[in-house]
Amino acid sequence: MITPRPVILDLDPGHDDAVNILLALASPELRVLGLTTVFGNVGLERTTRNALITRQIARSDVPVYAGADRPLVQGRISAEAVHGESGLDGPHLPIPTRGTEDEHAAAFIIRTVRAHPSEVTLVPTGPLTNVALAFRLAPDIIPMVREVVWMGGSTDTGNWTPAAEFNALADPHAAHVVFGSGVPLTMIGLNASHQAIAHPARVELFRELGTPTGAFVADLLAFFAEHHLERYGWDGGALHDPLTVAYLLRPDLFRVQPMHVQIDLSGGPSHGRTVADVWHVTGQAPTAQVMTRVDADGFFELLRDRIATYR
Ligand code: BDR
Ligand code: CA
Repeated sequence: MITPRPVILDLDPGHDDAVNILLALASPELRVLGLTTVFGNVGLERTTRNALITRQIARSDVPVYAGADRPLVQGRISAEAVHGESGLDGPHLPIPTRGTEDEHAAAFIIRTVRAHPSEVTLVPTGPLTNVALAFRLAPDIIPMVREVVWMGGSTDTGNWTPAAEFNALADPHAAHVVFGSGVPLTMIGLNASHQAIAHPARVELFRELGTPTGAFVADLLAFFAEHHLERYGWDGGALHDPLTVAYLLRPDLFRVQPMHVQIDLSGGPSHGRTVADVWHVTGQAPTAQVMTRVDADGFFELLRDRIATYR
């Protein structure tokens, strides 16, 4: 039997973050050591509450650690326009019966990476603030991290400004720390996630399961679709964050390419942009593997099969 791969999910739930939690917790190939939360789609108190709710829906006892409530340098932005006031609008949300652990997310990351050198994969799907804090507080852990697989950025256009993707823009200085750290890094940006649209037939895959978790996912995706219809005219939401865990489970469904990526910190109209050297024009060494292609049908099939394991 293959030993499950230890992972920490660092997130800002968020509809797609919540689906990522459910996917990871239903996957025997992974051992989820903890969920760490960060400000992002909504404030930290709500993203943390949403992580607790999702853990409860998964009937899991994975520990949850709250982390940064603001970016390293600049002011906070948030995305209620996409995720609603709660950050998880759409489905009925139960009241969480268990709380968080009494340790900061960055401290948990440091302690856990040190305890399992070269084993832990960090899977951030929000602003990179917790990971950057951990790297700055304890640079000794950087060579001990197996890999970071982040949803954020874009090789082309942004979704929060014309140039910048939300997670990158929400804390570009943290992204700069992580991209400059030398850690093995995969960037799954909008250029990839916009290939994974949860259109109505795909939402139905989850409703048809006839289970409470299937209905929860379908309700999340139906609400998430609203903003995408309004903003892009698409008939479904781009299911960004679960591409991270899906990539760990089934790399054969994706294509990645090494690129030099730097973060625009200019404060100008391109602030927060992940400037990706797609054609290697700078000759600079790659800083990340960047996802370029997604087998969307394969991805949704995998997700449906894993969500179907919740009874
Ligand atoms: C990213 O921003 C958030 O709104 C989503 O959860 C995802 O992580 C997409 O730009
Ligand atoms: Ca997210």
